[in-house]
Formats: sequence, C-alpha cells, structure tokens
Amino acid sequence: MCAGSTSGAAPPWIGVLNSDPGQDRNDESGRAVDVSVTIWGFIGSGNIGTTVARLALAAGHDVVLSNSRGPGTLAGLVDELGPHVRAATPAEAAEAGDVVVVTIPLRNYPQVPAEPLRGKIVIDTMNYYPQRDGNITELDDETTTSSELLAAHLPDSTVVKGFNNISFQHLAALPRPNGARDRSALAIAGDDDDAKKVVAEHLDQIGYDSLDLGPLAEGWRTQPGTAAYGLMYALNPQVWDQGARPASAIEVAARAAASQRQHHPRDAPSTTPSH
Ligand SMILES: NC(=O)c1ccc[n+]([C@@H]2O[C@H](COP(=O)([O-])OP(=O)(O)OC[C@H]3O[C@@H](n4cnc5c(N)ncnc54)[C@H](OP(=O)(O)O)[C@@H]3O)[C@@H](O)[C@H]2O)c1
Repeated sequence: MCAGSTSGAAPPWIGVLNSDPGQDRNDESGRAVDVSVTIWGFIGSGNIGTTVARLALAAGHDVVLSNSRGPGTLAGLVDELGPHVRAATPAEAAEAGDVVVVTIPLRNYPQVPAEPLRGKIVIDTMNYYPQRDGNITELDDETTTSSELLAAHLPDSTVVKGFNNISFQHLAALPRPNGARDRSALAIAGDDDDAKKVVAEHLDQIGYDSLDLGPLAEGWRTQPGTAAYGLMYALNPQVWDQGARPASAIEVAARAAASQRQHHPRDAPSTTPSH
C-alpha cells in the first residue's frame, strides 16, 4: 500500500497493477447500466466542459450547457455544436441533466445550485489551484479533498470525481472504441459504487476505460502536483500542448500508487501547468 492511503483496505485499483494490460476493464465488473438516452448537464462550459460536451454529443447524447454569464453568452457555441445542444442557467442545466458535470473554478463551488442536483450523479472535474482559487484552509492542511468539499455542499447528490487529471486537449485527442489496444483510462473516485458504475459506463460511451481510485477521500491521488496529474497522457510531459499519448488503466494505477500527498505551499508558484 502506498504512502498516504486513507483506509486500511486495498484500493480497488491495486488489482489492475497485476492484471493483463490488454484486458478490458469495462467487461469485468458485470455492469448492466443503461445510459443509452442521456442528457449531460454542464455547470461550466469552458475548456473542459466544452470538451466533455463534444465527446457526449459524438456518442449520441444531448447536452445542456451553462456558465456564469447567462445562456445568451453561449449562443455561438450552441450554434457551432448543433441541434442536440441548448444553453441554460446553471439551475436549469442541473435540473435537465441525467448526469451533471461541475466544471468551474473551484473557488466558485459554493455557487453550484444544490436543490436541482438533489438525487443526481454529479461529476466533479475541479482542481485546487490556490493561485487561482485563493487559499482554502481545509485543502491547504489536507484535512479534506476538493471533491469532498463539493460533496459536502451537495449532500443530497452523489459526487464522483472525474476528468480532473487530463488536460482538455488530451481528453479531446484520446477517445477510442471499446476494446481498442490504445484506449486510455480515466481515474474516478467516489463513495457510491453504483454511481461509479454509471459514470464508468458514461466514460465507456465517450471513448474511455475507467480506473476506480476508491472513495472521494482517495481523490487527492490525481490532484495537481501528484504523479498521476496528467503527465501520463502527454506526448511531451514538458510541454502539454504538443500532443497526446494513450495511458492504460495499468499506467494510471501505477501513477496513482506513486502519488504522494503534499502540502500546497501558500503563495508558492505551481510546479505543474495550471488547468
Ligand atoms: N483545462 C483543463 O484542461 C482542465 C482539465 C481538468 C480539470 N480542469 C478543472 O476543471 C475546472 C474547469 O476548468 P476549465 O479549464 O474548463 O475552466 P475555464 O475554461 O476557465 O471555464 C470555466 C467555466 O466555468 C464557468 N463558471 C465559472 N463560475 C461559474 C458559476 N458559478 N456557475 C456556472 N458556471 C461558472 C465559466 O463561465 P463564465 O465564463 O461565464 O464565467 C466557464 O464556462 C477547473 O476547476 C479546472 O481546474 C481543467
């Protein structure tokens, strides 16, 4: 077990480290989750939100986008993305979504509307960058994790951490059909196994395997500054926008196992690209 684990039980991804690199993780869980007709709601329609929306559209789903400035400011994007997209307020996107992606600067998480997300699965892409978000004491002293903050804000929703440790350019470049040898895996974390199965099925539909890191408390393993923060998807880890390379579940698991929990030095410059 690697340093910093928050529970005594072996995380579910430990088994991946000993498995056949060619195996299909999506076949082994016995899932029977129907996500065939899905509306993806987005609270945040920037780099990562728009990229996930494009993948969802390519998979045949519908999308409701929102941002902080109002639906009118998304008209051009809606026109560009086509008839299966509409713009709405954050509350309307939350209400409409079968699954809702929260993808905004972390400092704004208290503004996410809780009531329309009641009973829903919420995918949290957010990362903590003190330089952007300001200092958040519980994250600086590592008494919690960013996704647990969102989960505490949304007590009647089921939060699953996902998409947080891949740059939007790499996310756009790496989807592959189920079974492709060069398919990449995305890490997820969450406290509800059924919700993680649903999210894994969604990821499968948009071109990715998944790797279950365990509960939300384990989500720090893919946070900025860790070994599992995105570098495995970069063709050139020094320059993230120079192309993508696939990373299997085994590689992501190895990176997550190597992650070390570390304090965010207050006001110190980031050592990794800010996304
Ligand atoms: N960029 C990446 O490659 C990447 C990868 C993984 C994870 N992430 C994380 O994902 C989150 C989003 O990143 P991003 O790069 O997509 O950011 P971004 O391009 O700056 O977009 C942020 C979006 O959030 C919206 N927003 C801000 N506050 C909001 C609020 N209170 N309610 C509704 N919408 C709000 C913004 O709308 P307005 O423009 O109208 O304010 C904008 O559409 C961040 O936490 C980031 O750390 C980013």
